[in-house]
Amino acid sequence: MSATTKLDIAKIRADFPLLQTEVYGRPVVYFDNGATTQKPLPVLQALEEYYRSYNSNVHRGVHFLSQKATDGQEAARRKVAQFINARHDHEIIFTRGTTESINLVAYSFGKRFLQPGDEIIISAMEHHSNIVPWQLACEDRGAVLKVVPMDANGDLMLDEYEKLFSEKTKIVALTWVSNSLGTVNPVQELVARAHARQVPVLLDAAQAIQHTPVDVQSLDVDFLVFSGHKIYAPTGVGVLYGKESLLNEMPPYQGGGSMIKQVTFAKTTWADLPFKFEAGTPDVSGIIGLGAALDYVNEIGLEAIIEAEHELMQYASERLQTIPGLRIIGQPKEKAGTISFLVEGIHPFDLGELLDKQSIAVRTGHHCCQPVMEFFNIPGTVRASFSFYNTKEEVDRLVEGIKKSAAMLG
Ligand code: ALA
Repeated sequence: MSATTKLDIAKIRADFPLLQTEVYGRPVVYFDNGATTQKPLPVLQALEEYYRSYNSNVHRGVHFLSQKATDGQEAARRKVAQFINARHDHEIIFTRGTTESINLVAYSFGKRFLQPGDEIIISAMEHHSNIVPWQLACEDRGAVLKVVPMDANGDLMLDEYEKLFSEKTKIVALTWVSNSLGTVNPVQELVARAHARQVPVLLDAAQAIQHTPVDVQSLDVDFLVFSGHKIYAPTGVGVLYGKESLLNEMPPYQGGGSMIKQVTFAKTTWADLPFKFEAGTPDVSGIIGLGAALDYVNEIGLEAIIEAEHELMQYASERLQTIPGLRIIGQPKEKAGTISFLVEGIHPFDLGELLDKQSIAVRTGHHCCQPVMEFFNIPGTVRASFSFYNTKEEVDRLVEGIKKSAAMLG
């Protein structure tokens, strides 16, 4: 039985070799998609084809293989630009992932625009990767961090957000979808309120890119970051989208090959976008793999993916709440991808381990969101995070697994 009537989930699952894997002698139930997603055959094939037949460095050679690798990489850049509806391909910077993209902006934007006493707004539900780079920037530039609070449901408090702005606010950096609670933030509204005060916004789309349509032009967002591996691409490649005007004003993040126009010992000038921010040999195969992953998502259809995931999330939420003592952490107005929970009297690590022994992969702990755990006054959560290739039968196995674990520990 499929999660939805629109998608042939059995056929889709056949595209993902890992979903056929057995763990401890049983087919694995993979509910750790928030940490990383599995890779479909076209992505694996793209990697193999690159290494088998045109492995070469990019933007460096006149020879055939280098040109082919360069074309492959630049075609992927175009696919990313189209996927998020960027105006220009050169507004897409390839990085190692969300973390590096945020560090790049925090450093480079900070160096250009932050003065002592300036303020940066983030939120109470950020992943550490959207907290620590800003703390480093604050330390470096003498700026101050302000935090939008959330309510007990795990929704950001918009009135409080409003109050945080001052003459000194220089940038807002917020997550679109919370990796620990699943909250979908009202990003259009959040961006509009910042723009009403001429403050640019960075959106962390690490948990949004695979669950929601992204249109950077209609959002008018200034920076948007995500990791390829959360959207069925290989690990090691990520994206920074930035508005051309801002990126042009920002200094490079790293120096090295490819990012220069001219080097002399007296002075070096920078390459144009996007290369100014792409020092060194990029993850060519990963970038080509990302292009293949976006093709795959487009072929299945993001709308159908969203619908299937929504149905699965609803089913999981209802079924989980039938378990005695189970408490869902975070009941925001809108949710995507993730359900975090605790079972009374059971430490999340213990539950995670017992689920693992039943071949069910979930994530346990603070999910790189220690302030969120502190807010709810809990040691961590058990997190089930879903993809469209998951099934209702797998949700049933999770529910049975939790009941069995609770019986053992109780
Ligand atoms: N940020 C990823 C997660 O939430 C790793 O699991």
